[in-house]
Amino acid sequence: MSYHANSIEKELEIINIPDLEKEFEKSMSAVNHKKEADFIIGGAGSEYTLQHNISDFDNWEIVPSVIRGLDESRGNTATEIFGIKLKTPIIVSPSAAHGLVHSTAELGTLKGTFDAGSLMTVSTFSNELLKSIHEAESAAPWFYQFSFDQNQNLNNFLLNEAIRQGAKAIVVGVFGASFGRRERDIRNHFDFDSDLPFRQLAAFPEYPSGLDILKVNNRKRDINPEEIAKIKEQTGLPVLVKGIQSGADAIRAIENGADGIWISNTGGRQLDGIRSTIKALPEIVEAVNKRVPIVFDSGIRRGQHVFKALALGADLVAVGRAPLYGLHFGGARGVTSVLEQLRTELLNTMLLAGVTDIKELKNNARLEHSYPRA
Ligand SMILES: Cc1cc2nc3c(=O)[nH]c(=O)nc-3n(C[C@H](O)[C@H](O)[C@H](O)COP(=O)(O)O)c2cc1C
Repeated sequence: MSYHANSIEKELEIINIPDLEKEFEKSMSAVNHKKEADFIIGGAGSEYTLQHNISDFDNWEIVPSVIRGLDESRGNTATEIFGIKLKTPIIVSPSAAHGLVHSTAELGTLKGTFDAGSLMTVSTFSNELLKSIHEAESAAPWFYQFSFDQNQNLNNFLLNEAIRQGAKAIVVGVFGASFGRRERDIRNHFDFDSDLPFRQLAAFPEYPSGLDILKVNNRKRDINPEEIAKIKEQTGLPVLVKGIQSGADAIRAIENGADGIWISNTGGRQLDGIRSTIKALPEIVEAVNKRVPIVFDSGIRRGQHVFKALALGADLVAVGRAPLYGLHFGGARGVTSVLEQLRTELLNTMLLAGVTDIKELKNNARLEHSYPRA
């Protein structure tokens, strides 16, 4: 039986992302794709970290400033990273297999992200070839998320292809030395459908079978700090290290050449029982001390979350699950709708809190811890 994902292209009317998540689960279940929905929505273990990534934003409250003579027309969310101009500080995190939710897979996500004035990070586990992604929207900036393999020939093949197809940066994923235990997937006996190959991995000439690549791809390893500098040298591109959760690791990454720190616990999909990224953020901001840009992900569901992450010192935020929900319901236009929804919510928060642009947000916005500090 062949895998049937949505192929609808439309703009979405969204109330908020948590509601969209509920609708996504229903819609996927209705077409027999409950296992796939669980793979996307779920997290590791008891999902403690998945939930705290979201709820810990409530530990911070915004202190508005309302006598500033502002008017709505002055709100501006534009920013940049590595010289790439963006309309929004909200970019797209790498995630595997976009073909699970929509027939256009990563091509739809790239177009939708570009149309929203943002940029996408393409996963090592993309359903589409990097060449197809690039050719579908050749003006769109994108980053490549690279997962280290034990096979150095495969690593070279992927990095060289990312350079050839015009990636603007390499995002090195650091996930720990094993896979997260996602109980929903274990219970569901989840496996990727053979109709949705990871085409870029499958193109590696030493492994001609598209399916076998899943077994030979040997990602169960940590990285050595020196490998950061090697990737930089090999690719000549800026390197962000994604998966940082402590000040000490941020310092180690920067000392070994990282051009950017990407704070992430993969949305609670790897190690359960760890602190949320919003809780880890202040420690990492202090350690980084403005030496390199900070991207923050895991738990962003609302514009006020974006506001809080930037006010605490992140330069950009990234979203993993939310754009997949948009892709499912509306293809590229659905992705644009989700990113626009979050940007509009952010703008609304900024204007109500009394800041007009991202620089001002980062320098002047005031947050207060909602419970007394020890
Ligand atoms: C379905 C799915 C697949 C993912 N695949 C990858 C991946 O291939 N590489 C990676 O670095 N992160 C991956 N992630 C983690 C995301 O990049 C990101 O860190 C996380 O989704 C952010 O949390 P959020 O979903 O709460 O926004 C994946 C996340 C999801 C939901």
